[in-house]
Amino acid sequence: MLDLGCGKGAVAVEIARAIGCFVTGVDAFEPFVMSCRGLAAVKGVGSRCDFRVGLAERVGSTRYDAVVLLNLFPYERAIPIARRLTKPGGYYLLDDAVAVGAGAKEASFPTARDVAEAIEFAGDRVARFKVWTKPEVQRRERANYELLRRNAAELARASPKDGSLLSECLRRQRAGIAELSGVIRPACWLVRRGKA
Ligand SMILES: C[S@@+](CC[C@H](N)C(=O)[O-])C[C@H]1O[C@@H](n2cnc3c(N)ncnc32)[C@H](O)[C@@H]1O
Repeated sequence: MLDLGCGKGAVAVEIARAIGCFVTGVDAFEPFVMSCRGLAAVKGVGSRCDFRVGLAERVGSTRYDAVVLLNLFPYERAIPIARRLTKPGGYYLLDDAVAVGAGAKEASFPTARDVAEAIEFAGDRVARFKVWTKPEVQRRERANYELLRRNAAELARASPKDGSLLSECLRRQRAGIAELSGVIRPACWLVRRGKA
């Protein structure tokens, strides 16, 4: 399994732990890759994980049974990269934000149908699909926000000159939560890659 833009490795390490497969994680930010290695060791799956610094666009020609791209690229960019790295008949998982409901046409976001059509046009098939409901988004984002708020407070204590920058980050995060629980919602697609 390949996790592109794996961040600090939570998803990759959990997959290695839960499924027992070998996982490769790639992220452009070296400190995150170091965190991934630490997390894999703590969770006892270090020998089944390979975390590397790199750009998703430049990952080599090996093909994987499954490829994960979460919170990385919009779907138009994610699909060709996922296809290039997924074995025919394998699976890839991607996410994006989509416009739902009556206001969807006016929103400058794709609809779930736009994304499904792009997947099918590429020669693949949506195996599973989920759009988060408003309460799900709010629950998840509030928990994430609370974690960010605590981290920001700790950082601001350690480095008071960065206080206003951190406040601005938190303000944007709050605005993002409001935006993602209305017409625009997070969604993800598990896709079976076609043979071609
Ligand atoms: C929002 S985080 C998502 C992390 C993880 N996938 C998750 O969903 O929790 C985006 C991650 O992608 C990495 N990233 C951004 N652009 C990248 C690129 N072109 N190639 C590889 N990693 C990239 C960032 O360093 C960051 O760790």
